[in-house]
Amino acid sequence: MKTVLIATDKPFASNAIHKIGKVFRKAGYTLKLLEKYKSKQELLGAVKGADAMIVRSDIIDADVISAAKNLKIVVRAGAGYDNINLEAASQKGIVVMNTPGQNANAVAELAVGLAIYGIREFFSGKIGGELRGRTLGLHGFGFVARNVFRIARALGMKVIVYTRFSKDAAAAIGLKVVHSLEQLYEKSDVISIHVPAKGEHIKSVSYEVLKHLKDGSILVNTARKEVINEPDLVRVMEEKPGIKYISDVAPDCMDLFSEKFAGRFFFTPKKAGAQTEEANLNAGVAAAGQIVDFFEDGITTYKVN
Ligand code: 3PG
Repeated sequence: MKTVLIATDKPFASNAIHKIGKVFRKAGYTLKLLEKYKSKQELLGAVKGADAMIVRSDIIDADVISAAKNLKIVVRAGAGYDNINLEAASQKGIVVMNTPGQNANAVAELAVGLAIYGIREFFSGKIGGELRGRTLGLHGFGFVARNVFRIARALGMKVIVYTRFSKDAAAAIGLKVVHSLEQLYEKSDVISIHVPAKGEHIKSVSYEVLKHLKDGSILVNTARKEVINEPDLVRVMEEKPGIKYISDVAPDCMDLFSEKFAGRFFFTPKKAGAQTEEANLNAGVAAAGQIVDFFEDGITTYKVN
């Protein structure tokens, strides 16, 4: 009998746990829950007997991998797997998967909500603006960006995109593809970032790109703080006093923002993009299904290592 551990610092909605439980009961697996844990020690203890694991943004480093003696598979219920040490997992022959697209609508709705919050001057009562007629620049064109596009179009925004690998997909739905990031930043009133925190994307939103932002534009980041070159962002916000930065989780230099840019930023206190019942349900049940498919039929779709 297989034992599956759900280890989530940020627990899934109870409805999602209920449905995930059903998937594992049907397969004859045992489900263990470790939620809102306070220390890494608790996680190290809990993984010991697990054959499989479902996590969210929980840090699965080499210590966790090494403590997990029976572990065969980790599924990150979500898109970004920058929290998992893929090398350590691969060394032990552990399969790592994500559940791409399952929480994309939730993150997209947050991105648009944050853009509205920003353009309305954070609901402070000050006169703001409207999104209709303004240009939205999508930095990247994965599942989240595609949902943002759908919503933005309905709001009457002009949408442009910079993507290297999905140009045809974007053009096929009538989306204007620009040829450089510089162009994207220069032409947009709102930029929404949708690239993963890996490889060349780390700190890629740098001065070279940011200097092209229009003064008065809004930068919305529901991706990862690691894709931003923070000192460069601070420099550009000093140079162009109309720029606002809104992000799902605070940058490392949060104190500088409070000191220098009052009224020009907002950061969620805890990553909120996928914090909906629907996203929990979609990503959690997909993760459970992927684990059962892996053990029963050797299916490794969505393997990332
Ligand atoms: C993701 O990468 O899927 C999102 O950032 C959601 O992360 P969370 O599951 O920690 O909310």
